[in-house]
Amino acid sequence: MAERPVVIAVDGPAASGKGTLARRLAAHLGYAHLDTGLLYRAVGAAVVAGGGDPDDAGAAAGAARALTPADMAAPDEARLRTDAVADAAGRVAAHGAVRDVLFRFQRGFAEAPPGGAKGAVIDGRDIGTVICPDADAKIFVEAEVGVRAERRVKELRERGLDAIHARVLQDMKARDARDRSRSVAPLVPADDAFVLDTTALDADAAFAKALEFIAGRNK
Ligand code: C5P
Repeated sequence: MAERPVVIAVDGPAASGKGTLARRLAAHLGYAHLDTGLLYRAVGAAVVAGGGDPDDAGAAAGAARALTPADMAAPDEARLRTDAVADAAGRVAAHGAVRDVLFRFQRGFAEAPPGGAKGAVIDGRDIGTVICPDADAKIFVEAEVGVRAERRVKELRERGLDAIHARVLQDMKARDARDRSRSVAPLVPADDAFVLDTTALDADAAFAKALEFIAGRNK
């Protein structure tokens, strides 16, 4: 029988550095990478584009069911990386019915990573707790909210977009609060997660610490 793929779960709040870390780990280890935030963003964007309300569970679940496997495998990242879409994503993500629809795609990715990769690095909010509770390594990436807002402002400005720090901070706090307090799959570290605080770490230092943790798990 083929060996079970290795799964590395990377969870954490917005702009904690989890996306950059997950991409780097996947490239380094030769594993497939899945950014699950893009799935929720695709659902949120579809609801808004159709004139619906992201807080409406029926509309959100309908949009999730309408996503094709091709949409999920290759979401239109440029269109989905705006703060307006992030807000809609945070709202649709609170509905259990939406999470159920996306669950299957995420599990499928973990069980059979595309391209025949020997493993998957999956980043999101609930990968280590709900999607892959048996993941081989779980990393929970944190950073102080002020530092995360600063990173987000820098990223937006680099993309030529307007960004006001106070506004970004306010939006980030609101989205964090929603993600941490929702009744389904709230943002919490798994009991067996390695908590990596990147407040004072750059991307290289965070990557080194994560690799050290993963190597220790394989001993
Ligand atoms: O990670 P990103 O900021 O792209 O995620 C957008 C939103 O999607 C999050 O604020 C969160 O509400 C939701 N999400 C989630 N579970 C995941 C990934 C994202 O609830 N696994």
